[in-house]
Parts: sequence; C-alpha cells; structure tokens
Amino acid sequence: MTSAITGEQQQLSISHLIQWGDHLSVAHPTIDIQHKAIFELGGRVYESWHSGGGLDVFRPAIDKLANLMQAHFSFEERMLADIGYADLKEHAAEHGSMLDELQMIRERFNGLVGEPRLRGGSVLTPGWPVMQLILGFTVGHVATSDMAYGPALIARRDGALAET
Ligand SMILES: [Fe+2]
Ligand SMILES: [Fe+2]
Repeated sequence: MTSAITGEQQQLSISHLIQWGDHLSVAHPTIDIQHKAIFELGGRVYESWHSGGGLDVFRPAIDKLANLMQAHFSFEERMLADIGYADLKEHAAEHGSMLDELQMIRERFNGLVGEPRLRGGSVLTPGWPVMQLILGFTVGHVATSDMAYGPALIARRDGALAET
C-alpha cells in the first residue's frame, strides 16, 4: 500500500534540507559559523517563499546571500589553499558556479516589474530560483563537497599537533 505525499510533507522535507546540524560540522569553528549563518538565512527565505513573499522580500535576501556567500567562499578557499587541499580547483569551481547563478538571479529580479499573484510555495513564484540556489548550497555543496574536505582538514591539524 502506498500513501500519497502531501504538499505539507513536501514542504517539511524542503525545510529539513536547509537545517544545519552537527552532522554538517567540518570541525572548523569559523567555517561552521559561516555555514550556519547561510543556512539560517536560507530558512528565512524558505519561510518567505512558503508564505508567498514578494520581490520586496527577496531582493534584500539575495543581497545578503551574495555578501555571506562571497565572504565565506573566499575564506574557505584560502583555508583550503593553506592546507594544500588537492581538490581545491574543483571545489572553487563549484563556488564560482553558485556565484554566477546568484548573479543571474539578481539580474532577473532587477528586471522584474510588478509580480504575478501566485500562492506561496509554488515553483512558479519569483522566490523559487532563490530556493533552488539555497538547496544547491546546502544539499548540493555543504553536505557533499564541504564534508569531503573534513578528513583532509583534520589530518592536517593532527599532523601539525604531532609536530609540536
Ligand atoms: Fe565550499
Ligand atoms: Fe562552505
């Protein structure tokens, strides 16, 4: 017997994907704090999208997201360069792709005048591309590519401790 997935369940699973938890820690306090800040902003964007927020809500959220992401990506790339991370180039390319996407969304938003009256939580709303970007960051990047550098970071730290 199968049960139909309700709209409410879908919403719950999306909000679950943008919640930071200890399982996403990279064991670097500054980076964990930066990740949490972006996840928290993602949670607020989710609420706005779900409740049918308009362009006036999403425009400042995109600006804030751009600031947080740019600062975080630069910091993380410097840290990965410091530890000689082998996959830095590929990692930085993922960061660049997200920033390009963000810029495209920003330009599209700037070009929108007026807005369609749509129910909240629809993929047709202007907020959906922002949600997709946030899901790309949380599930597509932090939970996968960022988690992948954790062992290299810990090994480097343990090695440095052993040398002292
Ligand atoms: Fe990253
Ligand atoms: Fe990161």
